[in-house]
Amino acid sequence: MNISVFGLGYVGCVSLGCLAQNGHNVIGVDTNPIKVEQINSGKATIIEKDIDRIIGEQHLTGRIRATMDFNDAIQNSEISIICVGTPSSGNGHLNLNYIMHVASQIGESLKGKDEFHILAVRSTVMPGTADKIADIIEEQSGKKRNEHFSVLSNPEFLREGTAVIDYYDPPITLIGTDNNEAAQKLASLYAELPAEIIITDLKVAEIMKYVNNTYHALKVSFGNEIGNICKSLSIDSHKVVDIFCKDKKLNISPYYFKPGFAFGGSCLPKDLKGLGSLAHDLYLETPVIQNIEKSNEIQIKRTIDYLVSLGKKRIGFLGISFKEGTDDLRNSPALTVIETLLGKGFSICIYDKNVRLAQLTGTNKQFIDERIPHLANYLTDDLESVIEGSDIIVITTKEKIFIEKLKYVEEKHLVDLVRLDDSLLNKSNYFGINW
Ligand SMILES: NC(=O)c1ccc[n+]([C@@H]2O[C@H](COP(=O)([O-])OP(=O)(O)OC[C@H]3O[C@@H](n4cnc5c(N)ncnc54)[C@H](O)[C@@H]3O)[C@@H](O)[C@H]2O)c1
Repeated sequence: MNISVFGLGYVGCVSLGCLAQNGHNVIGVDTNPIKVEQINSGKATIIEKDIDRIIGEQHLTGRIRATMDFNDAIQNSEISIICVGTPSSGNGHLNLNYIMHVASQIGESLKGKDEFHILAVRSTVMPGTADKIADIIEEQSGKKRNEHFSVLSNPEFLREGTAVIDYYDPPITLIGTDNNEAAQKLASLYAELPAEIIITDLKVAEIMKYVNNTYHALKVSFGNEIGNICKSLSIDSHKVVDIFCKDKKLNISPYYFKPGFAFGGSCLPKDLKGLGSLAHDLYLETPVIQNIEKSNEIQIKRTIDYLVSLGKKRIGFLGISFKEGTDDLRNSPALTVIETLLGKGFSICIYDKNVRLAQLTGTNKQFIDERIPHLANYLTDDLESVIEGSDIIVITTKEKIFIEKLKYVEEKHLVDLVRLDDSLLNKSNYFGINW
């Protein structure tokens, strides 16, 4: 395929060399004449293992060249890969000037091109950038998005230092698109790589790098805070973290990674507090650990604020225990929501097939007796009556029966804290807490 690569820095130089090595003809474009000259004399623009050899070899085959002339690059390629820099502006926002400048250049050039052109944004950009790029191109060229050109998101996951290895063995290949045909064509560039190719919504792909990198940063800081606590207690933190990482069921796994409601129960809040207090007693600052509880409280408050904002008085809860399949009410965040709403004068009714107050024992019973002794007044075994008698229905546990019951409910607000089922997502009366 004939490809142009805009920006010949880390990402662009590696893409240029590796795509050519896979048999494509690649034109590099950069505003920096030194980088253009380097590529045209068979030299890499960056220091990275293997990249000098790859650029040298591909220069000899004649499959790569570089230019400062964007029009030459657009007219002689069918796919353009955008790899220009997106540095931080002074206030932490991204500086998208380079990207927007490239968009305007491409729009200018597409005016004079009849063939369909695909743009793949490999730079790290904020969600919505592909749409802005498409608007600029439409305005500049007079052409129509997805009729004459497409803008796709194709984030790069390489790390400097292992850039070529990462190019050939990425964790995933991600393409965000509103045009499946263009996505399939772009995907064919990566067909030889071992990674799964995931084709998804544009904005999902665009936000992915931020989610990944923020999580990576969180891992480093969490690991450091655990390390600092361990060191203060003369515990070898590396032994701790090595064992932590061996738990692929709960620790290094998708488990718990479900945007939704707050955590609760008898263990997570207690042990989180315990470790935070231990760090405090050791005179250690552990802001990541200390702020987890705050984040959880915000999720509870967000739910209460939303329910209050609906301006209806009768609220039915489907589920009340801290998670499905249990009758444990200790530190159930749903209970906190209910307590607050009762205090504000809302009328509450609750269905939870697992909670039989008469059968509660031990600390679970003690918790209810102390916190909300009149709970029995609001609980019922009759799911239908909760649905019938409420203006707002709050789903706090995943029970299959709820899906069938709620599918045809139209006149009431459905507030889902657990993503009960995707079949409900398009209902106009449905609200997911964070999706
Ligand atoms: N470096 C990494 O490890 C890495 C990894 C993944 C993603 N990214 C992202 O990829 C993007 C590029 O990163 P990088 O490290 O390669 O940047 P870089 O600064 O090394 O290179 C960017 C290049 O773009 C060129 N450029 C600027 N305006 C141009 C224009 N109008 N036309 C053509 N070229 C132009 C610059 O001259 C420069 O050579 C950024 O968004 C970055 O966040 C970087």
